[in-house]
Amino acid sequence: MQLRLTNLTKTFGQHRVLDDISIDLPEVHALVVIGPSGGGKTTLLRTIAGLERPDSGEVFINGEMLHFDEVSLLRHRRSIGTVFQSFNLFPHLTALENVILPLEQAQGYGHYQALEAAQAILKRFQLEEHADKKPAQLSGGQQQRVAIARAISIKPRFLLFDEPTSALDPEMTSEVLDIIGELRDEGRDLLLVTHHMGFARTAADHCLFVAEGRIVESGPVERLFAEPLSRELNHFFGRVMRY
Ligand SMILES: Nc1ncnc2c1ncn2[C@@H]1O[C@H](COP(=O)(O)OP(=O)(O)OP(=O)(O)O)[C@@H](O)[C@H]1O
Ligand SMILES: [Mg+2]
Repeated sequence: MQLRLTNLTKTFGQHRVLDDISIDLPEVHALVVIGPSGGGKTTLLRTIAGLERPDSGEVFINGEMLHFDEVSLLRHRRSIGTVFQSFNLFPHLTALENVILPLEQAQGYGHYQALEAAQAILKRFQLEEHADKKPAQLSGGQQQRVAIARAISIKPRFLLFDEPTSALDPEMTSEVLDIIGELRDEGRDLLLVTHHMGFARTAADHCLFVAEGRIVESGPVERLFAEPLSRELNHFFGRVMRY
């Protein structure tokens, strides 16, 4: 996909959370965003997802400018698969119903068509036996797999992941990272915020280092990891790689 951001700013109260962010990535397939807590990664992802309106600046995806009126935003959100840290499944619906709902309500599927599609996608993620369970009856890893299944089911233009493993133990983390790696290998475009540096390095093609609302470094992932240029990124790697 192509992603271009021009002079994006976003302020919450007095705090400039996105501070004049510009980037032009003519061809990116797996973009990873790293950086310290509070630096603006989630806000950046939410803006690209059409969940947050910037104060100024523009977002272009595949050459198309994102309009920030409600109707355009809704259409945009429905074209992207998003998976967040907290699993955001509907607690009162089963795994199957969680996948069916957006297919019926946002994608215009009839009930049987949605049911068939949802069953097939749950099967793909080895979740058939859990289809009738509610989120509280599933492990964190299973819930996150349902969230990923739901994100994929709408045939999104691309996928956004915001620290999808941060609430998971190491084994479930690997399970979810494996799935993300598989999706990338299938040729799906994805944007991922993660603090798993090893995974970022192997899975991504391009990396943004975001701190204090700015893109401090941007480049091919190998270059960024092998030769961080800025003091901030060196310092960040020093801290996150210590253990
Ligand atoms: N809705 C909001 N209202 C007010 N402040 C907000 C809001 N959302 C985010 N912020 C602030 O914006 C800053 C950036 O937040 P953001 O969640 O984008 O950071 P992040 O890089 O994703 O951090 P983390 O790694 O901890 O998830 C933080 O200081 C946060 O407190
Ligand atoms: Mg965040």
